[in-house]
Amino acid sequence: MAMELTFGDPALTARLERGVDAAEERLRAVAAEARDPRVAEIVGHLFAPGGKRLRPLLALVGAEFGERDPSAAVPAAALAELVHVASLYHDDVMDQARTRRGVASANARWGNATAVFAGNWLLSKAARLAAELGPETIRLQSSVTNRLVMGQIRELAGPSDDGDALAHYFAVVAGKTAALIAMALQLGAVRTDAPEHVVQALAEYGEHLGVAFQIADDILDITSTSEVSGKEQGKDLAIGVASLPVLLALADERPEADELRVLLTAATDAPDGSGLPRAAAPDDSGLPRAAAPDGSGLPRAVALLRRCGATAQARAIMQARLVRARSAANGLPDGPAARVLHALCDFVAHRDR
Ligand code: FPP
Ligand code: MG
Repeated sequence: MAMELTFGDPALTARLERGVDAAEERLRAVAAEARDPRVAEIVGHLFAPGGKRLRPLLALVGAEFGERDPSAAVPAAALAELVHVASLYHDDVMDQARTRRGVASANARWGNATAVFAGNWLLSKAARLAAELGPETIRLQSSVTNRLVMGQIRELAGPSDDGDALAHYFAVVAGKTAALIAMALQLGAVRTDAPEHVVQALAEYGEHLGVAFQIADDILDITSTSEVSGKEQGKDLAIGVASLPVLLALADERPEADELRVLLTAATDAPDGSGLPRAAAPDDSGLPRAAAPDGSGLPRAVALLRRCGATAQARAIMQARLVRARSAANGLPDGPAARVLHALCDFVAHRDR
């Protein structure tokens, strides 16, 4: 599987590995349901190696807190990854991303329309899988899909003129990232009949872990390389997504932060398309976008962001979220599975892709 699992308990580690492998097998079977081999190739494109498989893993860890055999959560693990991958097809269209999971993005390879339909195809399969698992799973899946979409709409809309940019950021991230991470844990726990207070504690843990995970993603956009992350470096910046380090840098009023602030707030609707591709696209919603440096300023902005305090400040905010995640994990029955939740906090803190 994709994440290196060293969770202390060998039996649990082996069980989780088997579960993630079985979920992957299930995903490949779903893609193969497209009888047309061309469609199968497109909808199976992002199941290729390169993903971290965090969400299936979380579903399987959640299942460890229940009363039934945790392997009952394999379909739930597949469902969490299905919804995630569907959202990646759409996200890469929105972000005009060229690479994902170390390969060409679906939109780069087959165009935007095909990528959107492939995401929809996967979502339809997720709905069918949820129906097989029962009403509670359908409820969780529909709620998470709604939160994902709301997160993206809020991100596109940006904060209101008199709104708090950081509060807006956390609302976006709760929807676009934390919701699915929390749901994966809940789904797994529900599959094995975990008590309600346990399901709730897992959800709380997942909400905090998910926010921390997205902050790490924001930081990696600035500090990582494409070779390691499998995505383009500086992409958030290039498309005008107000990531946490960017918001913190914009709020820095010291004179030494002037150059970066000017770069980040520079007018970006350059006619050559070097500025804000999402805002400049003719089919765009017309909603306001965050400011981004123009094409030439991008490498300079990345270099300045790496050096300035905003990245360290973002890291501190991420750590504070991890403390809250750990505190929620401490409310769960102690044992190897709870220790995995703590190990995942360490993984996010040291995430490099
Ligand atoms: C990544 O954010 C965000 C997501 C993967 C969520 C995307 C959600 C949608 C497009 C809504 C539609 C949802 C479904 C289920 C079809 P990012 O761009 O900051 O992260 P990245 O660095 O991984 O691209
Ligand atoms: Mg993206």
